[in-house]
Amino acid sequence: MTNVVVVGSQWGDEGKGKIVDWLSERADIVVRYQGGHNAGHTLVIDGTSYKLSLLPSGVVRPGKMAVIGNGVVVDPHALIAEIEKLAGQGVTITPDNLRVADNATLILSLHRELDAMREDAASNSGTKIGTTRRGIGPAYEDKVGRRAIRVMDLADLDSLPGKVDRILTHHNALRRGLGVAEVSHQTIMDELTSVAERVLPFRDTVWLFLDKERRRGARILFEGAQGSLLDIDHGTYPFVTSSNTVAGQAAAGSGMGPGALGYILGITKAYTTRVGEGPFPTELKDEIGEFLGQKGHEFGVVTGRKRRCGWFDAALVRQSVATNGITGIALTKLDVLDGLEELKICIGYMLDGEQIDHLPASQGAQARVEPIYITLEGWKESTVGARSWADLPAQAIKYVRQVEELIGAPVALLSTSPERDDTILVTDPFED
Ligand code: IMP
Repeated sequence: MTNVVVVGSQWGDEGKGKIVDWLSERADIVVRYQGGHNAGHTLVIDGTSYKLSLLPSGVVRPGKMAVIGNGVVVDPHALIAEIEKLAGQGVTITPDNLRVADNATLILSLHRELDAMREDAASNSGTKIGTTRRGIGPAYEDKVGRRAIRVMDLADLDSLPGKVDRILTHHNALRRGLGVAEVSHQTIMDELTSVAERVLPFRDTVWLFLDKERRRGARILFEGAQGSLLDIDHGTYPFVTSSNTVAGQAAAGSGMGPGALGYILGITKAYTTRVGEGPFPTELKDEIGEFLGQKGHEFGVVTGRKRRCGWFDAALVRQSVATNGITGIALTKLDVLDGLEELKICIGYMLDGEQIDHLPASQGAQARVEPIYITLEGWKESTVGARSWADLPAQAIKYVRQVEELIGAPVALLSTSPERDDTILVTDPFED
């Protein structure tokens, strides 16, 4: 028995929600360790669809503990709204099933405003990132700038005014530069005091809680958000999110030692998608890209934006296998490829006349690479709802085997529809 870390091995939206939900039935605790309410996870349980952005997916299952670790940036308004929305769907959230790290950073309205103002300004100069405008980047900036307001600060009304002054000195200078009105001390104090009562009951010393639970033998599932290619260090910088999304962050972002992480499951879509700006070597701006987007319902859960679609890029996923230490993958949305005459997989790139096997780090080079493809025969039969290898057409199995070989990691799970039971289990990550 081991703990499991779930990470996205592409640019996010790989279908982590369903797999995390599937695994959370076997887990005692589900932990988020990075990102914030920029994530969008859809769970379909007994025909009911739950859309989560900030809360760990395990929260909708009775008897599971959901934990928001210190590496997450927490928008208290989003937290309260999500708790209320779930209450409307019959899911009760109390400190008995949710804990929030007392050392997690808070996202304030001024972060959200700054994110949007910067994106608007960048739209005119062509340097937009295409963020979710949730204030994620500005909140992480304040965290590493050592001026953030954290969950525990809501309980210390004596020291809070000094902290508010400190964060405002920075933000009001920025706002003056951007030509927008300054924020008053009272506005931030009012914002914080209005949420304190709702947030504080959930606060906990999460590293200590997890350490105790690990010692008593609890099974812990770490739920990553976004994808490895959006990682602040390993992604397609600057078109990335503002946190480390690779598996190592599960340790730092929760306070659990890396030795206890266990099985690293990389969620991998059978083709590639990306939302927002940035390089995408295998992007298809033709009718096949349109086909994948329509059939795969490729619209963002958080922002509703249309996702860009393209062929499977094995070179990129091979990189994610290395940077995350992926033990095995969960391959999702294979059925979206049903009916295509032929399929292409990118195995490397041409850069300035040279053949290379990985995406270079430089932004200029990333924009110039040309994918090198191999072509495979498609299949006509439907793979929707397949629950065993015997249900899959031979060409689909060939495609899966080719993916495994090219990325250097085995398929542990194969998901064949949004329904949780439509999953082929090869290896149970908790038992590996
Ligand atoms: P931010 O995380 O809002 O700062 O956005 C930075 C980049 O990450 C943008 O390209 C977003 O579209 C992308 N991004 C953030 N969260 C997700 C996600 O959950 N899925 C896919 N892309 C995301």
